[in-house]
Amino acid sequence: MKRKNVIDLDRFSDAEIRIILETAKEMKKFIQGDVKKLDALKGKSIVTLFYEPSTRTRTSFELAGKYLGADVVNITSGNSSVVKGESLRDTLYTIEAMGIDAVVIRHPSEGAADIAEKVYEKKTPREKRPLVINAGDGAHAHPTQALLDIFTIEQHFKQLTGLKVAIIGDILHSRVARSDIIGMRQMGMEVHLAGPKTLLPRFLDQEPGIFIHEHLEDALEDADVINVLRIQLERQAAGFFPTTREYAKFFGLNEDRLKLAKPDAIVLHPGPQNMGLEISPKVAYSDRSKIRDQVQNGVAIRMAVLLLTLCGGE
Ligand code: NCD
Repeated sequence: MKRKNVIDLDRFSDAEIRIILETAKEMKKFIQGDVKKLDALKGKSIVTLFYEPSTRTRTSFELAGKYLGADVVNITSGNSSVVKGESLRDTLYTIEAMGIDAVVIRHPSEGAADIAEKVYEKKTPREKRPLVINAGDGAHAHPTQALLDIFTIEQHFKQLTGLKVAIIGDILHSRVARSDIIGMRQMGMEVHLAGPKTLLPRFLDQEPGIFIHEHLEDALEDADVINVLRIQLERQAAGFFPTTREYAKFFGLNEDRLKLAKPDAIVLHPGPQNMGLEISPKVAYSDRSKIRDQVQNGVAIRMAVLLLTLCGGE
């Protein structure tokens, strides 16, 4: 694969996604081994630049870089000069001047990763440009989450084509749903979306391979995979649904609703979970749930992404 920024999956071909999934398989074996240290990225330095809280994504990028032998430094906005008013552009130039090879960026604004790419394209010579990896920008995209979701599905079913995936909940504010939809359709899956009307984007049903349902039950029926989204309480004004109790009652995934899906269907959730709201504890902790596998697969996928995109040729 060529050295390239990871802004969203629409910039990756099916063949490139396939290479990432195959590499992640090898990385997963390595993570499960005793000595978790390679030197494939020895001498490379990576900064994770996070303007939003994160447990899974930040830690898994850090571990992925370290397992591959890179030096990894974490910047969180609350503990950096961002508090003193430094702009995103200046922060990007500052870390570039220190000689970094890649920046993994999470930001509350849609398009922040695009901006980072443009900032470097404008002022930094090609051979010195840090790679930009989007770890979630507002409600726009979260490409490595989609890759780990797809990887988790493939690990379970051993193939992807023709599987029915139901993505349920707060689609409107979900960067995970947006990247999932791109990647899952690219890999031949059928994507069914359901949630409260106010949290469903309108334009998506024009696209082939995407189905929008008013009733949760229609999306769940005969699904192979159910991806439950977190209600993005921080991204929505009040009023998208009456009360959290009602949301759980009408749209939460519970054991009864799970019965509508195929008997061997699996449940995913990107985390963190609003337990008892979008998902019931019985489902979340059942053996149908692959939520913990997703976390481990996230490290494997991020190792694969760092390795392939950082070491790729021009
Ligand atoms: C997701 C995110 O931050 O976009 N979480 C994650 O990366 N594990 C989903 C979410 O916050 O709901």
